[in-house]
Amino acid sequence: MTSVEKLRLGVNIDHVATLRNARGGALPDPLRAAQLAQNAGADGITAHLREDRRHILDADIDGLMALLQVPLNFECAATDEMQAIALRHKPHAVCIVPEKREERTTEGGLNVAADENKLADFIAPLREAGSRVSLFIGAEEGQVRSSARIGAAVIELHAGAYCDFHAEGRFVERDNELKRLADMCTLGHSLGLEVHVGHGLTFDTVKPVAALPEVRELNIGHFLIGEAVFMGLPAAIAEMRRLMDEARA
Ligand code: PXP
Repeated sequence: MTSVEKLRLGVNIDHVATLRNARGGALPDPLRAAQLAQNAGADGITAHLREDRRHILDADIDGLMALLQVPLNFECAATDEMQAIALRHKPHAVCIVPEKREERTTEGGLNVAADENKLADFIAPLREAGSRVSLFIGAEEGQVRSSARIGAAVIELHAGAYCDFHAEGRFVERDNELKRLADMCTLGHSLGLEVHVGHGLTFDTVKPVAALPEVRELNIGHFLIGEAVFMGLPAAIAEMRRLMDEARA
């Protein structure tokens, strides 16, 4: 693999649904956002069907499966209900995330190392159904190695700490986090895993991550949807794409 390999941008549309659900009703429509994102150059759409249905709803997943020409990355917790939904739809990718009902967003990564057998059993039918299984994990060696051992195709490394340290002006800690991400990208790639990174990325934080040569995809949501209020979704996606390409060049 060379550093010029194109980095994919997955656009997470959850927070269009957050806004819709704040009022009830149908607007703003996450499917319209997905269509716009696709037209603006998103390489994939990510949607997280949470157990409490706080943003994306089951009908949104039905609609996305019918609408999208780009791949759907279906994010969900490792529950029987979500497995059944994923098996019904057979999306391109299923990204397994930890979920706590009281959290505001996905705060940490999966503890794959502690749950290897359970997660291996959970992902086997998804793999057999043809979905690429991705595990959302912290940038920790044990988690990366466990993910490879249980047969995941993809790991998505949690960039939250790196982004938070940047926002707080704690640049030494930020750079340590970036180094951890870089090391775990290298390890994951060497173990045959496809490596994605996501959570909390912004125009200010995306380039050092996009420059990591083993990263194949970034999944970005909250910032892009927020920025869309000011500059429009297509322009926000185009600017993110430009920064990613610049970092990759
Ligand atoms: N990747 C995963 C696995 C996620 O759970 C999320 C949302 O929490 C994202 C990427 C996107 O994060 P953000 O909305 O902060 O850009």
